[in-house]
Amino acid sequence: MNCLNFLDFIKSEFGQLGQEEGFRYKYFDDEIKGIVVCWMVSKKVLNFTVKNKFNLLIAHEDLYFPPEYAGGDKTGVVSDFRKELLERNRINFLRLHYTIDKNFIFDVFDKLSGGKVLIKENFYRVYEFENNKLEDLAKELKKKYKVEFMRITESNKRVKRAGCLVGGLGLSINSKFIDKILTYNVDTVIAGEVDEYTIRALSDLKIGIIELGHEISERPGLIKFTEYLKKKLPEIPVKYL
Ligand SMILES: [Fe+2]
Ligand SMILES: [Fe+2]
Repeated sequence: MNCLNFLDFIKSEFGQLGQEEGFRYKYFDDEIKGIVVCWMVSKKVLNFTVKNKFNLLIAHEDLYFPPEYAGGDKTGVVSDFRKELLERNRINFLRLHYTIDKNFIFDVFDKLSGGKVLIKENFYRVYEFENNKLEDLAKELKKKYKVEFMRITESNKRVKRAGCLVGGLGLSINSKFIDKILTYNVDTVIAGEVDEYTIRALSDLKIGIIELGHEISERPGLIKFTEYLKKKLPEIPVKYL
């Protein structure tokens, strides 16, 4: 299977890709020797890929910095460093963002939240809790996500309706999404990553925040996607990093 066959396989399973998705690099006719799935490229990911002679890198987030959403044009100090490494080792890069969010990340996040899913309209999700103290809910989530630290606000607040801001949805660049989730009368949000714009905005309304971490919140869904690939493509080595 080469990279273009792989992309056809993904489209046949999940439908058309979003605009921000698809191949960003470069030798699409090469046979796939191994696939690494990651949240975002890093030195660790690149080193593993090179060392094991894998040649398809699938990341949930952008290859480039500055990223496309910030108007990046695929150049820059970091972009050039990453491209040079891919080039030198003939590694292909595929971004799968919307597709993995839609088919894996949100559903896994719903389950791990521990709440009952009250509202599920596209990416708008609201979970019902039985009056849990926010701090206690955060402690439960810390255990489930196996992390030592989390950022919270309104620690004594009682949680009954929590909105889902998995991944980067809690960033002010997504404030239209955040504004809409507030119309569902949530008292708390469970987020991947929030910035200070969001913290200030929600604190004015005394809405509590549990911030897990961007990667941490998306990782379980990405692992599920990796397991899915392993099952579907048993002839190709697939590894999550
Ligand atoms: Fe995501
Ligand atoms: Fe994300």
